[in-house]
This record gives sequence, structure tokens and C-alpha cells, in this order.
Amino acid sequence: MQVTRLTFDGFRNLKTGQIEPCPGVNVIVGENAQGKTNLLEAIWLFTGTKSFRSAKDSELIAFDKEQSKLSMQFHAGGREQEAEITIQNRRMATLNGIKQSSAVKLAGIFCGIVFSPVHLSLIKGGPIERRRLIDAAYCQLRPSYVKSLSEYARILAQRNALCKARDTGEAAAEMLDLWDRQLAQAGCRILHARQRYLQHMAPVARGIYQGLSSGKEEFDLRYTSTVPILPEETPAEMAAKFYEELRIRRRDDFAAGFTTVGPHRDDMDVYINGCSAKSFGSQGQQRSAVLAIKLAEAALLEKVTGEKPIALLDDVMSELDHSRQEYILNHIKDWQVFITCCDPNPLKALQGGQKLYVKDGQVSTI
Ligand SMILES: Nc1ncnc2c1ncn2[C@@H]1O[C@H](COP(=O)(O)OP(=O)(O)O)[C@@H](O)[C@H]1O
Ligand SMILES: [Mg+2]
Repeated sequence: MQVTRLTFDGFRNLKTGQIEPCPGVNVIVGENAQGKTNLLEAIWLFTGTKSFRSAKDSELIAFDKEQSKLSMQFHAGGREQEAEITIQNRRMATLNGIKQSSAVKLAGIFCGIVFSPVHLSLIKGGPIERRRLIDAAYCQLRPSYVKSLSEYARILAQRNALCKARDTGEAAAEMLDLWDRQLAQAGCRILHARQRYLQHMAPVARGIYQGLSSGKEEFDLRYTSTVPILPEETPAEMAAKFYEELRIRRRDDFAAGFTTVGPHRDDMDVYINGCSAKSFGSQGQQRSAVLAIKLAEAALLEKVTGEKPIALLDDVMSELDHSRQEYILNHIKDWQVFITCCDPNPLKALQGGQKLYVKDGQVSTI
């Protein structure tokens, strides 16, 4: 996977322009609030997923413009391809000149991973961020997973409405049973996908974390489900357990006014040396844990797609000691990388890369 050209017009604070990245490491240098992260965000949108800053699409349009237009030439699947994204009322996309029904259709075509300081919320934040991380990573591996997620959300909203209405009549009970069965069917696809993903990702992340900490620290990752499933169970077995759990909890759910059990309530815990990274991890350890997860995500993408994903690393070097910085630079040296920084000194070891300077939204090579 390689970006050969990116043009931007009306995107955040970026002045209309284009870049022609090199195949190796592209270091994006500039002072604070100049547009470095905005440039990474523009590239990221071509993965078909939402902005990693979880901004509304309308926030991406430059304050003084009506629309944003991004276009990208990239090498993927053994050929040159071209995609365009237009953000107006909604985000639209074309791929190789063909209009797509939605920008989500780019998922699985252009693949990458992104690390940004906002991802530290993966450790520090609530379960919703962690669930989003697994789901977004799995969407790039299996784009059809997007549909499973939206189907689950749709059924869940209907079941929740019924719980909220607290209708104890016979017709409502029949309806609830119907939603329970449907939710169990849709939910088991999510449970199974997440289990499979973590089964593959966790050992890779563990190895990377070990490298990052020079073998001094142990990393572990565990999925905690509100449904008592076992990782090796089939989707059908998971559905049966989920349905049973929904039945048991009906009374509780009516009291709460929403569905209290299911993949929408699950979490993932990260441990360093057996202790919760959230409660006990240092800044550097938390940062390393997120990086290990992100680099593992890239390794799995490469394994499944056969291509090296691009890596977008926003302000990755701060709070990491010299040996951790070196490990990362060594780990990513064969990928196309976009790495932002205020101070390019820690990146001196990188050979043959290109520097892009960003000042007041103007991107240049000098
Ligand atoms: N929609 C927008 N239109 C114009 N400017 C924007 C928009 N969104 C953000 N900005 C500006 O972009 C700047 C931040 O850019 P960012 O890429 O985060 O900086 P950094 O170089 O520190 O990574 C801020 O000055 C902010 O006001
Ligand atoms: Mg930034």
C-alpha cells in the first residue's frame, strides 16, 4: 500500500495543495496548531472509516468553505488506483472514477493504521472507545462487518424502546421475544468477530510490547463479555447463550429501561505486568500499550491483505524513552509512514525519508 499523491481543497485549515509522498518515511514537521494532524486525518479518511478525532463530518470542512474535496492516488492490489472524497452534507466517494454508494465502500481498498494521542483514551477512557477500536480494526479486515454492526444497532434500538415503554402486556412480551432472538443472532456475529480478532491480535501485540520494553515488561489483553461465552465457541453456541442471558435479564432490562447485556456492554482490559494499565500504567507504558495494539493491527492487516498498510503516527515520540523510540523506528522502516512531530531530532536515524513542513495550513517540502 502506498500513497503516491494527495490533493486537498477546503479541508480544515489546509491551504489548497498537494503532496507527493515518498514510499518510505514522510516526516511532517511544524509548530503546534499548524495543520500536521489535519494532514494525517485527510489521508486516514480514505480507509473509509470515521475520523480518528471522532469529529462530525461537517467539522472537517474549512470554516470559510462550503465543501471539502480530497483526492488520492495510491498503489494497492498490484495497481495504481484513485479515490476521491467530497464532504458536503455527507461524505461521498468515488473509486477509480466510479461513484460509490457511501464513503464506507473504501474500507478494505485503502488500508492503514493510525496512532494519535487521542487513542490514549483506549486505556484511559471508557469501554466504548475500546469497543470502537476492535470494531474499526475488524472492519478493515472484513468490510462486511460494518453491516453486522449496523444491524445489531438497529435491533438493539428497537429492543431498548420496548424496555423503556415497560409494557408488560402479552403482545409486548411476544415482541420482546422476537427482538431477543434477532438480537442474539446479530450479536453473536459481533461476539465471534471480536473473539477471533483478539485471539489473533493479542499475541502479536504482546510480542511487540515485549520488544518495546526491551523484554522487561509483560503485556496482556483480555476481552470481558457480559455474555458468558468461551472464545472457542461457534457463533450458534454464542447466540444460544446470548438469547438465554437476554431472557434471564428481561425484568432487569425493563427496570433499567435499556438492554443491560450484550456486545454493546462488553469491554477489553489491558494489563502490564499483571496490573491494570488504566489504573497503574505510567504515561509511557500506556502509550506503549496503545502502540503495541496499533502495530499489531497493522501486522494482521498485512497478513490478511498481503500488503503493508500505511502507518499514520501523530506525535508518537513524546514520552517515550530512547530505546522505545528506536524500536518503533526500526519496526516501521519497511512501511510507508507519515509521522508528525514538532522536533524532528528523534527521527534523525531515519534514512532516505522526506520532510514535509506545515505552516499555517501550507504544506511544502522546503
Ligand atoms: N474546519 C476547520 N476549518 C479551518 N481551520 C480548522 C478547522 N478545523 C481545525 N482547524 C484549525 O486547524 C488547526 C489545528 O490543526 P492541527 O492539524 O490539529 O495542528 P497540529 O499541527 O498541531 O497537528 C487549529 O488552528 C484549528 O483552528
Ligand atoms: Mg497535532
